[in-house]
Amino acid sequence: MIYKRSSALFAEAQKVIPGGVNSPVRAFKAVGGDPIFVKEAKGPYLYDEDGNRLIDYINSWGPMILGHAYPPVVNAVIDKAKKGTSFGMPTEIETQIAELAVGMVPNIDKIRFVNSGTEACMSAVRLARGYTGRDKIIKFAGCYHGHSDSFLIQAGSGAVTFGSPNSPGVTKGTAQDTLLARYNDLQNVADVIAANKGEIACVIIEPIAGNMGCIPPVNGFLEGLRTLCDADDILLIFDEVMTGFRLAKGGAQELTGVNADIVTFGKVIGGGLPVGAFAARSEIMNHLAPLGPVYQAGTLSGNPLAMAAGLAMLTELNTNSGVFKSLKDKTTYLHKGITKALQDQNVIHTINRIGSMISVHFAEDTVVDFDTAAKGNNDTFKKFFHGMLANGVYIAPSAFETWFITDALTYADLDETILAVQKVAKAL
Ligand SMILES: Cc1ncc(COP(=O)(O)O)c(C=O)c1O
Repeated sequence: MIYKRSSALFAEAQKVIPGGVNSPVRAFKAVGGDPIFVKEAKGPYLYDEDGNRLIDYINSWGPMILGHAYPPVVNAVIDKAKKGTSFGMPTEIETQIAELAVGMVPNIDKIRFVNSGTEACMSAVRLARGYTGRDKIIKFAGCYHGHSDSFLIQAGSGAVTFGSPNSPGVTKGTAQDTLLARYNDLQNVADVIAANKGEIACVIIEPIAGNMGCIPPVNGFLEGLRTLCDADDILLIFDEVMTGFRLAKGGAQELTGVNADIVTFGKVIGGGLPVGAFAARSEIMNHLAPLGPVYQAGTLSGNPLAMAAGLAMLTELNTNSGVFKSLKDKTTYLHKGITKALQDQNVIHTINRIGSMISVHFAEDTVVDFDTAAKGNNDTFKKFFHGMLANGVYIAPSAFETWFITDALTYADLDETILAVQKVAKAL
């Protein structure tokens, strides 16, 4: 494939945008080469500036669950835009999407909309601190909750890819209130809690991790966390920015049967527009301004275009009951095909999958946490990434990311992908 125009655009971009990108992982630093510039996208395909068609396994890092330029979403945005794009005043559609979300997700009464997953997680932690009157939080090594200061301690995905898990600019004071635990290691969490008894406001977790590649919780882990939190009056926050409205209507809470105290959303909830949200039972949400003292606000929060896109997306996911099974079936099919293709060429690998999230770790052992994910062979991943790209398949440009399956993929697309893996595996 030819990427001349993408490379030229990247060179121009670097003159005026740091690193040429507005979010670091897009720069292809972890895999080498120049990033691809997208011209447009439709259904499961990206079309780049050089005229190549790529099967997309990133889907804007999750939200394009029904495919790019999904007509009900596009039409809803166009209709709304004609009536004004922002008012900074209440609109009926905010209540409509809130009612829908509260009806779909277990264990929440109220939801507040923000503009990104970062904002959602940052605000959820402030609410937990305000509610409990405690300062410390527990996060898990390798989990990513956006780029707000408290979370840039051993964050996964982008941060790890760039070898700076702890970002300069985060003050010591902030960092000391973030306690780290090992994913899937209940004893480790119990030890951290015991050493900080009565001081921890919340445990925040990706209930199914996606930012160190896909890592599902081992049996009993989330249930155990729930019990540990209850025993010390700690709020449990599920960061469902990736999993919300993707793994099931009610996200990971529905899938695992474990209730969180606060849930955060992003990506899917905005149908591809900049939306995030956090939600909880009334007793907790009523601590937020203007009802309570915990301050949180946003000029563009509940923006009509974003709400229209989100409402169209959630309405479809709520009414199309077959979509989650269809996503799961397609992902299972892909899993089988990739496994066979890699096994046939004796490529060492481990595939983790849950619902429509899947990742290929080029690691020998089971991948259950950040340390085992980090054992993956990055050179193999780089070859795999570029080989897939050369065969028209776009996966995330980092070994620490999950593939997000869209229901717009046909079985022919999946077969084309598996064929690409067969070809690439021969050269690994
Ligand atoms: C689990 C999780 N939480 C939070 C975020 C931050 O969301 P955003 O990039 O919209 O700020 C991400 C982003 O990838 C994420 O994967």
